[in-house]
Amino acid sequence: MKIIGTGSSLPKKIVTNDDLSAFLDTSDEWIRTRTGIRERHIAVEETTTSMGVEAARNALEDAGVAPEELDLIIAATVTSDRIIPMLSCQVQAELGAKNAVAFDIGAACSGFLFALGTANAYLSTGKYKNALIIGAETLSKIMDWTDRSTCVLFGDGAGAAVVSAEGDHLLSIVQGSDGAGGMALECVNRSTNNPFCRAESNTFSYVHMDGPAVYKFAVRTIPKAIMQVLDEAGLTPDQVDYYLLHQANLRILDAAAARLKQPMEKFPTNMERCGNISAASVPILLDEVCRAGKIKEGDLIVLAGFGAGLTWGACVLRW
Ligand code: UT7
Repeated sequence: MKIIGTGSSLPKKIVTNDDLSAFLDTSDEWIRTRTGIRERHIAVEETTTSMGVEAARNALEDAGVAPEELDLIIAATVTSDRIIPMLSCQVQAELGAKNAVAFDIGAACSGFLFALGTANAYLSTGKYKNALIIGAETLSKIMDWTDRSTCVLFGDGAGAAVVSAEGDHLLSIVQGSDGAGGMALECVNRSTNNPFCRAESNTFSYVHMDGPAVYKFAVRTIPKAIMQVLDEAGLTPDQVDYYLLHQANLRILDAAAARLKQPMEKFPTNMERCGNISAASVPILLDEVCRAGKIKEGDLIVLAGFGAGLTWGACVLRW
């Protein structure tokens, strides 16, 4: 497979750390030094679907692929606008991609890597030629805006990529899950509530995170997953041109760079402007790096995601 086009979409409204400290017991200094985040985009008029569609249109235009040429659409999200129909089907309808099979994947911040791995499996059957993979989130709607330990970290947005069966970008991919550690980052869905079992309360909960536990998981798991894909591809960390990692915390990127003995220049970031956008982080960063002309043909690129589940994924691509 080969990534032949990328696109992204961010809400218009920018919320700075100072904006948050106007109603929360926090400060620009704490948020910047603990995370690297200065501001994030927050949806006001936008929805997960509208951002997913815009990112998809940009990726299709970049790839020179018409919507009718898509035979697969996979959307990774934990914040779709509706439980049903799924985000992928809504994007399909808006694009007029009537020949595509469309479904969603829920793998939180690893979602884009899981969508890429799934698209690769479908494309390698020979039955599918062009896939659209999307990571789109409106995390602001599942945040508790009185909880300073979570709401300052996240943002909204969408990223997309068009993947063709022709070409050999993907050298290796790994995915992993550890459900036993999953409660470190949780958000409860509706309760069972029916004539035979009345729920005590029937409200959705907001995101709750044991930050230090997830931090330790990320720092331990990500360099290991990256070493695994590099070993499988017969490569060393020095040979990689760019590492595009999920944008959760600058200190996590620092720790990964140190463990891989790589300079931070190889780790482009956008978390300063975007915060953590879960499944959308990696594809938005990929789109920004591509559009800035940073990636040349032949470059070796590592993509890696990690987060709720717990889940993780990494791949190495030769551009
Ligand atoms: O995308 C999914 C993956 N998610 C991640 O990878 C997140 C991983 N975790 C992290 O990035 C970090 O753990 C955080 C940024 C979430 C937190 O940083 P930390 O250095 O682990 O801080 P902490 O949770 O240990 O909290 C330290 C202190 C606490 O106060 P006390 O108990 O020491 O008095 C918190 O109450 O900082 C306090 N605190 C804040 N203070 C000001 C927590 N949030 C804030 C805040 N502003 N926003």
